[in-house]
Amino acid sequence: MRTAIYPGSFDPVTLGHWDIIQRAEKLVDRLIVAVLHNPEKSAAFSVEERVTMLTELVSPFENVKVTSFHGLLVDFAKQNHADCIIRGVRAFSDFEYEFQMALMNRKLAPDLETVFLMPKEKYSAVSSRFVREIGSMGGELKELVPEQLRERIVKRLATG
Ligand code: PNS
Repeated sequence: MRTAIYPGSFDPVTLGHWDIIQRAEKLVDRLIVAVLHNPEKSAAFSVEERVTMLTELVSPFENVKVTSFHGLLVDFAKQNHADCIIRGVRAFSDFEYEFQMALMNRKLAPDLETVFLMPKEKYSAVSSRFVREIGSMGGELKELVPEQLRERIVKRLATG
């Protein structure tokens, strides 16, 4: 049984994340989407809100579960008997940080592979940061976040 973890902040989930989830789900038996509890980073959405939105999104897939985690990703991966970590890479600019993180995780857990997936080109510039900025200024989020979550994300970002 192949298990992959797709970790991230997902603050909030974007169409780019959703694209990666759908690609990763096909490659493994079990995919765990894991939202990091990061006390150092102030977030627009609470971890509970992010987990709830992701859980709704992945509900058509029986092999995809959503949860949150504290601490080191490699420890969470070990606890869940994961074979690999999934990360999305949109552009070369993502690569340096992702490469360093993958190598550091490999140092900590040599048997845990990092697998990079590319989302559709049209999501290359889509990021949670832009979603937060555009949403908080009343901009259109139609091409940026999953349709079924759009209204909730718009409302939440507008009210702060
Ligand atoms: O969506 P993000 O913010 O790019 O995701 C980053 C994330 C959550 C994958 C990364 O910060 C992480 O794994 N944090 C957990 C702490 C950890 O393991 N740090 C060592 C990384 S080398």
